[in-house]
Amino acid sequence: MVLMVRYGMFPLIKEILAAKDGFGEICVRGWVKTKRDMKNLVFIEINDGSCFSGLQCTFDGVPVPAGLSTGSSVEITGRLVPSPSQGQAVELAAAAITVLGGAPAEDTPSIKAYPLQKKRHSLEFLREMPHLRGRTNTIAAVMRVRSAMAFGVHRFFRERGFQYLHTPIITGSDAEGAGAMFRVTTQDPGGTKPERGGDFFGRESFLTVSGQLEAEAYAAALSRVYTFAPAFRAEHSNTARHLAEFWMIEPEAAFFTLSDNMALAEDFLKTLFSAALEECEEDLGFFDTHIEKGIVGTLKSVTESAFTRMTYTEAIAELEKAASSFAYKPYWGCDLQSEHEKYLTEKTAGGPVIVTDYPKEIKAFYMKQNGDGKTVKAMDVLVPRLGEIIGGSEREENLDVLAARMAELGMNDESYDWYLDLRRYGSVPHSGFGMGFERLIQYVTGMANIRDVIPYPRAAGQLY
Ligand code: 4AD
Ligand code: MG
Repeated sequence: MVLMVRYGMFPLIKEILAAKDGFGEICVRGWVKTKRDMKNLVFIEINDGSCFSGLQCTFDGVPVPAGLSTGSSVEITGRLVPSPSQGQAVELAAAAITVLGGAPAEDTPSIKAYPLQKKRHSLEFLREMPHLRGRTNTIAAVMRVRSAMAFGVHRFFRERGFQYLHTPIITGSDAEGAGAMFRVTTQDPGGTKPERGGDFFGRESFLTVSGQLEAEAYAAALSRVYTFAPAFRAEHSNTARHLAEFWMIEPEAAFFTLSDNMALAEDFLKTLFSAALEECEEDLGFFDTHIEKGIVGTLKSVTESAFTRMTYTEAIAELEKAASSFAYKPYWGCDLQSEHEKYLTEKTAGGPVIVTDYPKEIKAFYMKQNGDGKTVKAMDVLVPRLGEIIGGSEREENLDVLAARMAELGMNDESYDWYLDLRRYGSVPHSGFGMGFERLIQYVTGMANIRDVIPYPRAAGQLY
């Protein structure tokens, strides 16, 4: 067999399992998942994370090092042969094994026992060891889906004429007016040794909460742009869908109306779901069986049906009909709580919902005002289980209207003057949205907690 071995001289297990051009001598490397002894016969399953399946290696009369334990890294040579066992087309008839790095099954004087020997560990337990949890089936599957989805995001925008834009991480402005920002400073925290010449930038600086405002500047130059970058929010909301550091995708398009924006968001989600179904079939099969029953069917049906659309006013009317079932009474002007979002998606629509035209008081300053003086051209895409997955709007492109709104909100300082320039020179109607990448991964995998879909979660009180 000729395997395409490009790097490191060893094929990936994914390549081995996909090889259809005959069998022969190969050498593989990976980590021991399981080992079963039967007299002269030893079965070792190794996995290298390249795909969900491992490779079954059979040692028939071939010696295996005593004490070889789960988690050890090994190199195995042998012949790839058709497998007599169920559930696998091929297995390795092993001729030799070398241990590259052991993983003690029990405490030794210098190293504690490998903590991930059991078949199953709770996700809470695993969260305490983000550096090792990638070796579990669940977290490895999540990270493969994450990688496929990241690639899918770029492909989606590239195919639609959007340029990939890198917006700054360190910023002087608060895009959302939310106020929950992390300060960036070189000053001594105790304040005992004030830095000579003042703080690094000579003014207050923060980690960005969103690249939107900067993306707007470039949409007014390149027509269609998108960002895909970390965003930071010092929110203390200790929930299963908030992180302090998360990744956000923000398209921004000149000449897009709110209705174009909704169409783009729906196309975006459906395209990503289809890509997940197609490219991550094996991993999604695992999530469907072990994490969220029916997730594959849900994703399929979502890609095949239109998202429900309703205005905020219509949504409130729906919620008021069921007012007694909520802890927070819905009323016109209230921010939608997650119980409300859950109701609209799970009870009213039975699928994703795009809610538009929210009251201006509960939305950001930059959203385009409707003629009614009360609402703005906002849109949130809500999905079952999670609630909000996308937030966006048409942007206010009229200089006077925007300046008046900013003055109302006390934002008339010069740090936003550049943003008003975009309305002073060649202003155009434009729209955009932001999608939390981790919320997408949660939706696609069915993982309940956002901390389990990012390699190193950062949340209030948690920085491992
Ligand atoms: O609704 P948000 O706050 O909107 C913005 O930041 C706009 N500037 C986006 C735009 O129009 N360009 O955030 C957008 C999305 C949310 O819908 C949610 O999916 C995600 O970002 N998000 C978070 N994800 C994880 N942890 C958090 N703390 C998040 N906050 C927002
Ligand atoms: Mg939002």
